[in-house]
Amino acid sequence: MPEEAIKSRMTDLVFEQSSLVIMVTDRQGVIREASRYAEEFAGRRLVGVNLTDIVVDFEADLDLARLALEGGRQLMTLSGAGHNPESFEFKISDCGDRILYVGEILHEEREALRAHLLRLTGEVSDLNRELQRRTAELERLVELKSRFIGVTAHDLRNPIGGIHGMSEVLRQEAETEGDDAHAEVFAMMHESSGFMLSLVEDLLTAIEFESGQLRLNLEPADLDELVASAVRLNRLLAARRGVELALRRSESLPRMRLDRMKLHQVLNNLISNAVKFSPTGATVVISAGTENDSVIVSVADSGPGIPPEELPKLFTPFLRTTVMSPHGEKGTGLGLSIAKSIVDAHGGCMRVDTEVGIGSIFTVSLPVRQPAV
Ligand SMILES: Nc1ncnc2c1ncn2[C@@H]1O[C@H](COP(=O)(O)OP(=O)(O)OP(=O)(O)O)[C@@H](O)[C@H]1O
Ligand SMILES: [Mg+2]
Repeated sequence: MPEEAIKSRMTDLVFEQSSLVIMVTDRQGVIREASRYAEEFAGRRLVGVNLTDIVVDFEADLDLARLALEGGRQLMTLSGAGHNPESFEFKISDCGDRILYVGEILHEEREALRAHLLRLTGEVSDLNRELQRRTAELERLVELKSRFIGVTAHDLRNPIGGIHGMSEVLRQEAETEGDDAHAEVFAMMHESSGFMLSLVEDLLTAIEFESGQLRLNLEPADLDELVASAVRLNRLLAARRGVELALRRSESLPRMRLDRMKLHQVLNNLISNAVKFSPTGATVVISAGTENDSVIVSVADSGPGIPPEELPKLFTPFLRTTVMSPHGEKGTGLGLSIAKSIVDAHGGCMRVDTEVGIGSIFTVSLPVRQPAV
């Protein structure tokens, strides 16, 4: 093989197969030729690209032509696609109207980077272990908190229930004796203890949900009676706010297997919300009926309604909307989220239709399955 041909073959091999960044630029710095490795490193075709586009921290006043003349060596960091920039030591040669750059990776630097990366990986796994430890600790604390709230709420339920029941008996007695002052005091006690009782019950249910231990105590139930009972429970509260409760039943509801206490909680939450947000003189309409294979109970009020952008807050625990109760009442923001979870657990669904300035309708729909015999 003639010498020229050998040299040409060698150049081809070096261009195609070596791990050298070889680039030939014109005097303006535009790359005219690039080795395969250079393009692989850059992750793109380099011909036509200006050298300054791939050199990181390129010093504008770096006189490559002068360096080339001096047969200079220059450290340059190149950016690559999909990986970190790397530093190369370039040998720069002036070839007339072209400049030749032959760059070799700096192995010490690569090793240093690798060592750094290893150290970082070590630190990340230490942090990860610490995170896991803290998560476990946090889970333990959450569990402890839930148990604490659970025990407290459970122990409060009976005495508060006692006060709630007794205050109503005392109110009725005072009323029959014509002792209005005492009747009013007992009514207030009955109302406040009613609030406390709902809160305690909501907390207990929230904890059951949180710990994934919600167990429905399904039993054959008379839904008509449940609705009527929830209406009765809220009558006094409504009367004291000058709100009327109207119960409309299109037909009698089928007996169904459900958790009576929890469904009572749902209805109580919906009715007490409707009363809370109804202006004095308004009527809250509770309707019950069947539709296809579902029982539908809805609670409609002519309160302020809920702005559409605030709807996502409704069923989120502890969130309340900006809507104000005309009676200045506040809540914990638990009721609806719990009501929804209970309805979901029964395989049913809850819907809200609301319009600002008109009112809201909350509808519970429960599938009539396993009818009790
Ligand atoms: N009928 C309604 N009309 C207007 N806004 C309502 C109505 N029902 C609920 N909301 C809004 O949804 C929020 C959440 O209701 P939710 O029953 O979950 O909590 P709460 O009534 O504030 O407190 P809790 O029921 O725990 O005592 C309420 O604070 C209120 O902003
Ligand atoms: Mg509520």
